[in-house]
Amino acid sequence: MTEAVQTSSTFTPRVFSGIQPSGDLHLGNYLGALKRFVNMQNDVVQTLYCMVDMHAITVWQDPADLQKATRELCAGFIAAGLDPQKSILFNQSQVPEHAQLAWIFNCVARMGWMQRMTQWKDKSGKNAQNMSLGLFAYPALMAADILIYHATQVPVGEDQKQHLELTRDIAAKFNHDYGVEFFPITEPVIEGAATRVMSFRDGTKKMSKSDPSDASRINMTDDADTIAKKIRKAKTDPEALPSEAKGLEDRPEARNLVNIYAGLSGLSVDQVLSDVGGKQFSEFKPMLSELAVAKLAPISTEMARLMQEQDEIDKILAHGASQAREIAAPILKKTYEIVGMVGA
Ligand code: TYM
Repeated sequence: MTEAVQTSSTFTPRVFSGIQPSGDLHLGNYLGALKRFVNMQNDVVQTLYCMVDMHAITVWQDPADLQKATRELCAGFIAAGLDPQKSILFNQSQVPEHAQLAWIFNCVARMGWMQRMTQWKDKSGKNAQNMSLGLFAYPALMAADILIYHATQVPVGEDQKQHLELTRDIAAKFNHDYGVEFFPITEPVIEGAATRVMSFRDGTKKMSKSDPSDASRINMTDDADTIAKKIRKAKTDPEALPSEAKGLEDRPEARNLVNIYAGLSGLSVDQVLSDVGGKQFSEFKPMLSELAVAKLAPISTEMARLMQEQDEIDKILAHGASQAREIAAPILKKTYEIVGMVGA
């Protein structure tokens, strides 16, 4: 068979991304992903945003909590500015084509590729034998999420970069093995000042929903007082803020707070530092607090309101799933034909 890898340039631009409904949305998810989903939502390029419930169950989820988290995530998407009239919003399990394509990709991806994934290594640690098979195969399902729509661009935070490289490898190997130019080589979109938001307690650790300390992160459901308190208590160093970005090297906590300020305000890090350079944290933290409350509190209020309208949320998800299936079904059919499945 001939080498037949093509770039995504000949595919119609289409954006896909997903977030796991496995706990509260936090500031890292908002700045690294959700806020950027909203920026990419427009009438020209089709955008699909997914609550990846099948990814969430690769580690144990209480069923009632999973339902609540999926609806809450949908409320978060909408409260942050995603419009179900403009973007297709749905939960993964309502579109069975994801799982169907994932099986094909399980047969394309190699064990060694999966074993190299740093998230697998971090999550499984010394306990790999007791992890679910789903957790190991997770990146193949992620590739299927993206490629079942022939998505060309995927906005994510920096921690997903390796998974997106694997998605490209799977697309390239499928195309090569079957001698086709069927799947695009998707572009990760990792942009902005806050693609890696760090913990408030340790500037060298990623802000994460699995951190046992609630003070390490801002949750999108936190009220104004809680947001302000967490920022006040965030770890810092005793120096004043520098006037240039290079002054933030070796100051992970300071860099994190400046990046967050830049991410929330839409300013660049240089612009922020030209305003706040020379200030002490005692002055900068209240500024950051005020900005964070102004940007985040309306989202959490709107989320809480939308959570009262569960039927409405369920309707949005069902409608989004049927729109998503219209795109996914012909791509799966064609994949089955390429693979040689009778009746496809
Ligand atoms: P998840 O649910 O862990 O995170 C969702 C998004 O938030 C970003 N993110 C962060 N960005 C900046 N700083 C942080 N501290 C931070 N923490 C999380 C993540 O990079 C991500 O963009 N595997 C994915 C979900 C997924 C997916 C997909 C994404 C499944 N299928 C297909 C894109 C395309 C995940 O676990 O993200």
